[in-house]
Amino acid sequence: MTSVSACRELVVEYGHGDGRVRALDHVSLDVAPGERLALRGRSGSGKTTLLHALGGLVEPTGGEVELEGRPLATLDEEARRRMRATRIAYVFQGANLLPTFTGFENVAFAIRAAASPDAPTDPLMLLGLVGLAGKAEHLPGEMSGGERQRVALARALGQHPGLLLCDEPTGQLDSDTGARILDLIDALQREFGFALVTATHDEDVAARHDRVVELEEGRVVRESA
Ligand SMILES: Nc1ncnc2c1ncn2[C@@H]1O[C@H](COP(=O)(O)OP(=O)(O)OP(=O)(O)O)[C@@H](O)[C@H]1O
Ligand SMILES: [Mg+2]
Repeated sequence: MTSVSACRELVVEYGHGDGRVRALDHVSLDVAPGERLALRGRSGSGKTTLLHALGGLVEPTGGEVELEGRPLATLDEEARRRMRATRIAYVFQGANLLPTFTGFENVAFAIRAAASPDAPTDPLMLLGLVGLAGKAEHLPGEMSGGERQRVALARALGQHPGLLLCDEPTGQLDSDTGARILDLIDALQREFGFALVTATHDEDVAARHDRVVELEEGRVVRESA
């Protein structure tokens, strides 16, 4: 079966000259449709960089990235933009909502951008799935961190993604709220069947996934099922 995202011998470097940093050092990884994968490692080990690379957001210094079997290098800007809008969704640590848009508008915007025939079209239904229909008219600044994270999830679902990338989805939440967000992601993953890749430094968060890939200094050092 075609991977939803894959990288082969991926090298990513930032900066120039003496300041050059190798964030990923020959990483090869396949994300199968519907699988739940955790990327674990200390701060600076390359988790976010790998997450971005799997979403086609990073230009590799070396090696290759494939999105749904298509080499990133062969996709032009428009094709990449469409893949990112329609097939790949992100939930970032700080939720990254549009601050001047309400919860409803944040979700509606993602649905419009995805314009996928299979995508859910009702922002209120999606906000209902994450238990936030009552906050639809609130701005992100009028919500708690956990509520913003749930709007970010509803927004991601609006894209009907084949792949959901979560960067420290519970990093800024207390442990109870964090656990509720993770339960919600699990439930939505079972219902919608997207592949899930979660970057986390937290062993307990990682253990909730089917497979854990451990990074150290930009290299995969361990993999456990
Ligand atoms: N835009 C950038 N410019 C220069 N170096 C960067 C940039 N982004 C990341 N790096 C460096 O690349 C390496 C990997 O960073 P990355 O953000 O992928 O780590 P991480 O595992 O996500 O860390 P954290 O747990 O702190 O989020 C680090 O050494 C970091 O300093
Ligand atoms: Mg990170």
